[in-house]
Amino acid sequence: MAGRMTAPADPLFPPFPLEDWRRHEPAVSGAVQRVFASGSYILGGEVSAFEAEFAAFLNVRHVVGLASGTDAIEIMLRALDIGPGSQVVVPSFAPSAVAAGVMRSGAALVLADVTPGTFTLCPESLEAVLRAQAGRGVKAVLAVHLFGHPVDWQSLQIVADRHGVLLLEDCAQSHGALWQGRMTGSLGRAAAFSFYPTKNLGAIGDAGAVATNDDEFAARLRSIRQYGWRSRHCSDAAGVNSRLDEIQAAILRVKLRTLAQNVAERRKVAATYDERLSASSGVRPPCVRPGCGHAYHQYVVRCAARERVLGRLQAAGVPAAVHYPVPLHLQPAFSGGETLPESEKAAGEVLSLPLHPWLGEEAVHTACQIIIGDDHAAR
Ligand SMILES: Cc1ncc(COP(=O)(O)O)c(C=O)c1O
Repeated sequence: MAGRMTAPADPLFPPFPLEDWRRHEPAVSGAVQRVFASGSYILGGEVSAFEAEFAAFLNVRHVVGLASGTDAIEIMLRALDIGPGSQVVVPSFAPSAVAAGVMRSGAALVLADVTPGTFTLCPESLEAVLRAQAGRGVKAVLAVHLFGHPVDWQSLQIVADRHGVLLLEDCAQSHGALWQGRMTGSLGRAAAFSFYPTKNLGAIGDAGAVATNDDEFAARLRSIRQYGWRSRHCSDAAGVNSRLDEIQAAILRVKLRTLAQNVAERRKVAATYDERLSASSGVRPPCVRPGCGHAYHQYVVRCAARERVLGRLQAAGVPAAVHYPVPLHLQPAFSGGETLPESEKAAGEVLSLPLHPWLGEEAVHTACQIIIGDDHAAR
């Protein structure tokens, strides 16, 4: 029987996970073989080694490996006793996984707007939302470092402190991003990570983690991820099964070695885009707030004629995409009837151009030519 046919990858725009695999193949294969041969497949030496190595990368005391980023949000909240009867504020312009993770904890979702420049949680909107929700059980704010740009941590922290709520991080898109010289993931009490295959640090399957400096909290996370066990076969509280897989941990250890270099390469590709797109009147390149090191999980421009430009790019084989077309407050599962104008505007204008550490100048040039060509055609 003939093998399954797959479309050949465009040599100019190789998909990130495949290219990532190609670069790491011998080391990843060796690591996976090592796990097979160890006979230890659940919470063994690879998970604890990855946890220690990623904690060192972030400069935090603990990383607790989990089964996904959505689980990381849920378990982080549960370990903080945030659940039914509590509320958690998240930005509306965010992937639906953020809302799903919060709702799985049992807490109610409260949505706030974003800042137009960076697409991250807007401190003024947060202030307004926390005032409106006063006395209704808001316990935490989950700030998402969207597309790899750090949130305005200091301003958000001032607002959160004023209202006595915890400020937590969602770092699913910000591995390697810096805020005032500190790694995202080390800024607050706890941070949730995803290692979904397309992330800056991606597994070959699902994986996630929570990072924290709090010893007792880390112990709670470890207990919840494994049936609530205090010791083997004795549960303190009802937990879940959300263990980071030993094979995924071994793969993540390999990829972690080149994460810093890969983020540096992402920044170079972004700089090439910035330079080329400065000639475009139709798109606005992403901005970087002073003191921030963008990790460029995505390179997202604003484009008023988004659908037309997206169509032209896709017709020419450029894998451009839209992250995210519908803000959370307009999705049936999460809507509370809010009006959040910046989130709605962002959803209508954002356009993600292909970016990964090994994207060549020719690919960037091709995408930019199409965009600039569209500017001229539209005049
Ligand atoms: C910002 C953000 N938070 C949370 C998640 C959830 O991660 P996972 O897909 O590993 O469950 C994602 C992944 O899509 C994400 O981008």
